[in-house]
Amino acid sequence: MPIRKVTGFTTFALQKKTDRMQSVSLHDKEFVLYLEEDKIQKAIEKMAKTLEKEYAGKDVVFVGVLNGCFRLIADLMKYIEFEAEVNFIKLSSYRGTESTGKISDLMSLNTDLRNKHVIVLEDIVDTGHTLDYLRDVLKEKELASLKVASLLFKPDAFMGRHKPDYVAFEIPNLFVVGYGLDYDGLGRNLNDIYQIKS
Ligand code: IMP
Repeated sequence: MPIRKVTGFTTFALQKKTDRMQSVSLHDKEFVLYLEEDKIQKAIEKMAKTLEKEYAGKDVVFVGVLNGCFRLIADLMKYIEFEAEVNFIKLSSYRGTESTGKISDLMSLNTDLRNKHVIVLEDIVDTGHTLDYLRDVLKEKELASLKVASLLFKPDAFMGRHKPDYVAFEIPNLFVVGYGLDYDGLGRNLNDIYQIKS
């Protein structure tokens, strides 16, 4: 395939990303294409419209759970038309493809959330331990309301107290990568979501 030139740069990197790969290898594991980029984008736009109906005119703070939410939050914000603050918290529970069940708070929230309507943004809710932990942290902060929006939800793995309020895709209990989700640090840059090959 010829490589076009744009303002002196080759478009090789761009070309590679737009040619959708049917499978990817990361470290020792192989993953197969599961959710395509355009499906993900449409679901995020729909989520934004739902949030708009419920939250327009309210004092809203989105709280993104790092690292995995960075792509979701960037894309969701493209479709959100009401005024809202954006903040982040960094939590970690995963090692490899297994949840450890122990949550570490790696970067705390540094903003006053009193009387704010908080929408937590998660890339994925799996066992639900992370959400339970976060709810306990946020309970102390006298919020006006608290809801959770997640791109992905694994109902068969869930053991938490409250399911997420807004979910774009319910998926089987299989490890996935791409669109912000990683396997030991790799795969976050993929535009599509891939499922582990069984
Ligand atoms: P939970 O506490 O088990 O619900 O897991 C929450 C966190 O684990 C997510 O925010 C992800 O960072 C990570 N995680 C859970 N399932 C997957 C997966 O299938 N792929 C990549 N990361 C995952």
